[in-house]
Amino acid sequence: MTETTPGTDGQWWVGEVLYQIYPRSYQDTDGDGVGDLRGITDRLDHLAWLGIRAIWLSPVTVSPNADFGYDVADYYDVDPSLGTLADLDELIAAAAARGIGVLMDLVPNHTSDRHPWFVGARGSVDDPHRAWYVWADPAPDGGPPNNWVSTFGGSAWELDEASRQYFLHNFLDSQPDLDWWNEEVRAEFDRILRFWFDRGVSGFRIDVAHMVVKDRELRDNPPAVDSDPLMDQIRGQRQEFNSCRPETHDVHRRWRAVADSYDPPRLLVGETFVERLEDLFPFTDGTQLHLDFNIPFAHTSFSASALRDAIATTEAAMAPVVPVWTGSNHDISRFPSRWAGDDPGLARVALMMLLTLRGTVFLYQGDEIGMTDVDIPRDELVDPVGIRFHPYAGRDPVRTPMQWEDVDGAGFTPAGVPPWLRFGDLTCNVVDQHADPTSFLHLTHDLIALRVATPDLRTGLWRAVDAPADVLAYTRGDGHLVALNLGDASATVGTGPGSVVIGTDRARDGEVVADGLALPGRSGVVLRRS
Ligand code: NOJ
Repeated sequence: MTETTPGTDGQWWVGEVLYQIYPRSYQDTDGDGVGDLRGITDRLDHLAWLGIRAIWLSPVTVSPNADFGYDVADYYDVDPSLGTLADLDELIAAAAARGIGVLMDLVPNHTSDRHPWFVGARGSVDDPHRAWYVWADPAPDGGPPNNWVSTFGGSAWELDEASRQYFLHNFLDSQPDLDWWNEEVRAEFDRILRFWFDRGVSGFRIDVAHMVVKDRELRDNPPAVDSDPLMDQIRGQRQEFNSCRPETHDVHRRWRAVADSYDPPRLLVGETFVERLEDLFPFTDGTQLHLDFNIPFAHTSFSASALRDAIATTEAAMAPVVPVWTGSNHDISRFPSRWAGDDPGLARVALMMLLTLRGTVFLYQGDEIGMTDVDIPRDELVDPVGIRFHPYAGRDPVRTPMQWEDVDGAGFTPAGVPPWLRFGDLTCNVVDQHADPTSFLHLTHDLIALRVATPDLRTGLWRAVDAPADVLAYTRGDGHLVALNLGDASATVGTGPGSVVIGTDRARDGEVVADGLALPGRSGVVLRRS
């Protein structure tokens, strides 16, 4: 019998494949070059065919779009550029009819500076929402209250001239941080969660989940040392007092209680954007958010030994809970580029890895066809991070529109309409790959179908298997073995007898294996043992 993870009964996401949609770039139905909610509804059959269990929508709530939705001006309504509340209701219903849940994106760390709460708070020190944000007097020299640095560069403090107090912003200065020591803020977010759960939303991805509570005394961060993660070194400081504070865990438990009071439970997945695996595990004790993104894994270099270590360390620490595996999202380079260097063969190997690990997998839109990062000329950049840190291009290269078809408009927007971000290479597209049973798209489809139909792959234990240096090999449950050759040279893997269920080279599907398996460079197989 295939083992299951204890304590996960009723957790409908265990073993499933979920899919992130960046709504501005999925499907445009009103001809303005920007995707919208109706477009997502129109594309649900593609997702149902793929075998996706739920979609996560990057923010669709009201926003002036300084950070493309991650600056919220109203948590209870839909941004007009993406549609209406009625469109969202329709999407939720149409998705449910296909067995697909809809997760939204909750942004609790900060609001937009245009949110009426902040407009009021900035307008008067006596405003009821003043204490919902983090305000502090200047340091004795008139400068910022402490040395904290914003994730998007520069001081994390902005002076409000009128009141001569600084407000905190760990991202853009138009994204003021909320004060999570304030019980009213906590209660308001409970209301926001319930509002959307009651509307039929299946869960939330929670933005910057690891960072919401800050040190109450606003102490200075200590300087970074050589052994600290890269981002700390770039910032010049260790984020000891503005990130991963112990009190954050209480907030996660509080949100979990709200989600678990629903039947079926609503899913909460944290954007726990830490750099080291060891910083992730304090969040994954099974009492906090149901799932937490494993960013250090996504940032692991694509070598068999580094991946084996990252997976084994995650497995050892997370045996009693459900790990999350993801290779791409709207903030980081797409895995076919980052891991596979735009090599389609290696990208197939990476896809096979993602879809055969224990836990819940998140694909990012376009992963299913192997979309790569797109070069964006400097004068076309719209991401504030890319604009500020050029020549680092920021996040626009991974946010370009979905490539549905090799036609003018890419099947994303009507012919002749300029998309909000340029298209990538349209020879990589859904329509053409649909027609080719050996395509990346069919590999994605077939691996998902195999995963959801195979108890070993849904929930069976993961165990590393000895293999040549460039080969990452592991078993899932008792009956399946996955062997992935990341190197250029052929290698032979001792497997025992079995048959290939799916190979990255589809010509191998069904091949009977007597004992050893010869794996050409940049190829992989899922083997059923006999
Ligand atoms: C993480 C989000 O994924 C990113 O896109 C955003 O810019 C920051 N949080 C700030 O909300």
